[in-house]
Amino acid sequence: DLPLRTLARKHGLGIGTAVDMAALDADPQYRSLVAREFSAVTAENVMKWESLEPTRGEYNWGPADELVDFARRNGQKVHGHTLLWHSQAPAWLNEGVADGSISPAELRTIVRDHITTVVKHFRGKVRAWDVVNEAFTDGDNPVLRDTIFRQHLGPNYIADALRWAHAADPNAKLFLNDYATDNINPKSTAYYELAKQLLKQRAPLHGMGFQGHLDLQYPLPIDAPENLRRFDKLGLQTAFTEVDVRFDLPVDNWKTAGQVGSFNTLLQACLLTPRCVMFTVWGFTDKYSWVPGFFEGQGSATPLDENFQPKPAYRGLQQVL
Ligand code: XIL
Repeated sequence: DLPLRTLARKHGLGIGTAVDMAALDADPQYRSLVAREFSAVTAENVMKWESLEPTRGEYNWGPADELVDFARRNGQKVHGHTLLWHSQAPAWLNEGVADGSISPAELRTIVRDHITTVVKHFRGKVRAWDVVNEAFTDGDNPVLRDTIFRQHLGPNYIADALRWAHAADPNAKLFLNDYATDNINPKSTAYYELAKQLLKQRAPLHGMGFQGHLDLQYPLPIDAPENLRRFDKLGLQTAFTEVDVRFDLPVDNWKTAGQVGSFNTLLQACLLTPRCVMFTVWGFTDKYSWVPGFFEGQGSATPLDENFQPKPAYRGLQQVL
C-alpha cells in the first residue's frame, strides 16, 4: 500500500495538500500523514496577506516559516498561496483604501512592497507562487473582477504583480490561480485569453492553476484534458491546486462513486498533460476540511474520512497513479 507521493514520483508529478497549521501543530496523526503521503504542500491560510501582515508594517512569519521548515525536513516542495487576492486581504488595507487614507499611488507602492517582501523572504524555499488568485468574475461573460487592485492599479495590475514577483525571486515559477476553470467554459476561455495576452506582453508568467473545487451537482469536467492542453500548448505549466469534491450530505453509494470519478477525472487530465506539474488536494481528511463550514449541508469532500481512513476516492487516486 504505497503512499501517493511514491506512486506519483514515476510520473514526475508533485502530489500536494493544503496544510492547516493548527492541525499540523496539534494532531500527530495529521502531521505524519502530510509527511507520508505528499511531496508538495500549500499553506491553507498562513501565507495569505491578512495572515502575514495583520497590522501594517508588522509581518508575522512564524506559522509560514514553520510550514516551510516542515516541508524541507520531509523533502516537499512548497507552493506559495497567495500574493494578491481580493479575499483575506488585511482589514487595514481595505479600510485605508475605502476611506481614502491610502491613495491609488500609495496602494501601488504597498502592493509592490508586499510582493517584494514576501517573495524575497521565501526565496529559494517556495518553488511557485499563486501571484494573483481568482482574478475573474463568474457567469457567461467573465471579466477581471472589480477589486481594489484592478480599480486603483489599473488593468495591467496582473502583469505588474508578475514582474515584481519575478524581480524578487527569478527562480520562482509564477502562476495565476482560479476556480471554475477546470472544463472548457467562458471563464476558462477568458483565463486562457489572459494567459496569451500576458505572454504576448512578455510578462513573467510560468503556469496556470486550476483550483478544482468540484461539486457533484454540477457536470463532471470531462473535457479537463482538452482544457489543460490549450494552456500547455502555450508552453505554460499547469497544476490542479485545490482539488476537493463536495456533495450534499448524507453520503450514499452513488455520491461515493461520483466522487471517485471526479477526483480521477482531474488526476487523469493532469497525467495526460505534459507540463502538468502538480495535483494538490485542498485538505486530505474530512476532519479538517473547509467545506462543511462554507457550503451548508455539504461535506465529505476529501480522500480520507474524519478518522483518517481511506475512502474510495483515495483508492481511486492510488489506482490512477
Ligand atoms: C479557504 C480556506 O480553506 C479556509 O480555511 C479559509 O477560511 C478561507 O479560504 N479558494 C482559495 C483558497 O484560493 O484560499 C480558499 O481557502 C478556498 C477557495
